[in-house]
Amino acid sequence: MPTILRGARFPSTMSRGFMAPRASSPENPLRLAVLISGSGSGLATLLKHQQNKSCAHKTVIVISDKTDAGGLGHAERYGVPNTSIPLSMRISGLERRIEQESRVLDAIEESGAELVVLSGYMRILTADFVSRWKGRLINIHPSLLPLFPGAHAHEDVLAEGVDESGCTVHLVDENVDTGPILAQQTVPVHKEDTVDSLSERVKKAEHVLYPDVLDRFCRNPLSFDIGWSVDINQL
Ligand code: GAR
Repeated sequence: MPTILRGARFPSTMSRGFMAPRASSPENPLRLAVLISGSGSGLATLLKHQQNKSCAHKTVIVISDKTDAGGLGHAERYGVPNTSIPLSMRISGLERRIEQESRVLDAIEESGAELVVLSGYMRILTADFVSRWKGRLINIHPSLLPLFPGAHAHEDVLAEGVDESGCTVHLVDENVDTGPILAQQTVPVHKEDTVDSLSERVKKAEHVLYPDVLDRFCRNPLSFDIGWSVDINQL
């Protein structure tokens, strides 16, 4: 049986200074902005989960960096405001990255979101973005971090020949896939696996793990012992 592990990990001094969101309840759910890039199967699971009356979070905006992301259709079906904010064609390099991020930050702020969830969002955020949302920025990664960080986790798992992989829900810090881990779930890797078959198995695990971890996190963020800086006005 896959196991769920929880706990703290302090990969560097960068992991300090996480600001906790308020603790929420079904009567006053935490407002989420969900960022996606692709098919949005995780988003679909989350939106379905949020139909549950006991859920302590709700999605107030879905933002994609791709205009054709399938996940935008899930937002439409559930009546959730959604928008795509692609990279500009007029500028390039760092300027282009910062301009796109600044529009994403504006959209998040306008939505009134209190927590940002990266659900298959395939862009690396700048340190400026992270510092604004640190402690209220959660990522789902398709491997057992700290193993196999980055954008090609399944390829790397298969190349390494390991017999176990999984998924990780973690807070985002200024580095790539290094923030404190909230929860993980393992899945087996089979000899005949392809990237597609492994990805499908890991996504099934993600879809069970991540709405549940979000529930527990939103209800009582401080129950995760990760060295919070707490703004008492938010409690
Ligand atoms: C998920 O497996 C998620 O863990 C992964 O992208 C997939 C999105 O699937 N995220 C990353 O790789 C982030 N580095 P979805 O669009 O069907 O939800």
